[in-house]
Amino acid sequence: MTSAPIAAVTGAEGFIGSHLTEALVAAGHRVRAMVQYNSFSSYGWLETLPADVLDHVEVVLGDVRDNGSVRSLVADAETVYHLAALIAIPYSYQAPHSYVDTNVTGTLNVLEAVRHLEVPRLVHTSTSETYGTAQTVPITEDHPINTQSPYAASKAGGDRLADSYHASFGTPVVTLRPFNTFGPRQSMRAVIPTVIGQVAAGYHTITLGDLRPTRDFTFVKDTAQAFLAVGTAPAATVEGRTFNAGTGGEISVGDLVRLIGKVMDTDLDVTEDEQRVRPAASEVMRLVADASRLRAATGWAPAHDLEQGLAHTVEFFRDPANLARYKTGVYNI
Ligand SMILES: NC(=O)c1ccc[n+]([C@@H]2O[C@H](COP(=O)([O-])OP(=O)(O)OC[C@H]3O[C@@H](n4cnc5c(N)ncnc54)[C@H](O)[C@@H]3O)[C@@H](O)[C@H]2O)c1
Repeated sequence: MTSAPIAAVTGAEGFIGSHLTEALVAAGHRVRAMVQYNSFSSYGWLETLPADVLDHVEVVLGDVRDNGSVRSLVADAETVYHLAALIAIPYSYQAPHSYVDTNVTGTLNVLEAVRHLEVPRLVHTSTSETYGTAQTVPITEDHPINTQSPYAASKAGGDRLADSYHASFGTPVVTLRPFNTFGPRQSMRAVIPTVIGQVAAGYHTITLGDLRPTRDFTFVKDTAQAFLAVGTAPAATVEGRTFNAGTGGEISVGDLVRLIGKVMDTDLDVTEDEQRVRPAASEVMRLVADASRLRAATGWAPAHDLEQGLAHTVEFFRDPANLARYKTGVYNI
């Protein structure tokens, strides 16, 4: 372990968190990685990182709902990246209390720890889902917030707390609002791994929900760079502000399936599965980002287009060792 500055990451064992951990190490940071305590002693995706990366990662088992475990995570960190959250929209219909506990109270614990331990920078993670179906496109950070699911509402609650801590206490927090992110290690709760994973497992008829919604998909390595960009930018340019991270491109789920078929060189049939279709007023029909504020403040721009990102994702899912970690035959809520 070097004496490089410590970046503390919550949700480090997850999809985006594990890529952010790699990007932080590549940029010369030591990472103190909170992994949610579990009885399997599983470190999630961190277990798959190369040893030379893990040499710079200190894993701490904990829980953002627990104040003490958050305080010990962030003590003496230079930057805190708060990604831990419950993220699935369908599960938020079933277990909304757990979303408030994790996404609202968990964020409050992080804000309190950062405030009292005087950590110099907190990057809080929002989501484009807080905008709801686009009322104007592309969506800027001034677009109204319209929370159409308990998930979106709990994330917006965390965002409002972050804004209030900056206003009330000068807490040095910046909010990153990623649009849909995809890539290796994403769970099959999201559409791209659902399609690619089913094809890689040998299915030719793909089971999905509504094919009409459009999304702006960012490759995960670009999202990780957006976190680094706001985590390392001068305070005056980012603190107290919210930044969209997205490509500005837009594709419907139906067209996305056709594009994945092209990248995987296969014809795909799609059947709509009733249980995957959301209540009409809860489905976000259109999301497309205006990320010009982030670009102006930090110079961030995505380095991968959708087809390049899909090719990397297909390569990941075609590796049998990776595919074996997924349940391709069931609906992953
Ligand atoms: N994936 C996307 O498209 C996307 C888009 C916008 C925003 N986000 C946000 O990015 C962040 C990361 O999402 P992801 O896609 O990597 O999901 P993920 O589920 O892979 O990662 C979330 C991580 O949080 C951890 N976690 C959950 N509850 C916890 C708790 N109580 N204590 C400690 N850790 C806990 C989980 O174990 C998991 O590793 C989330 O805040 C999410 O809202 C994701």
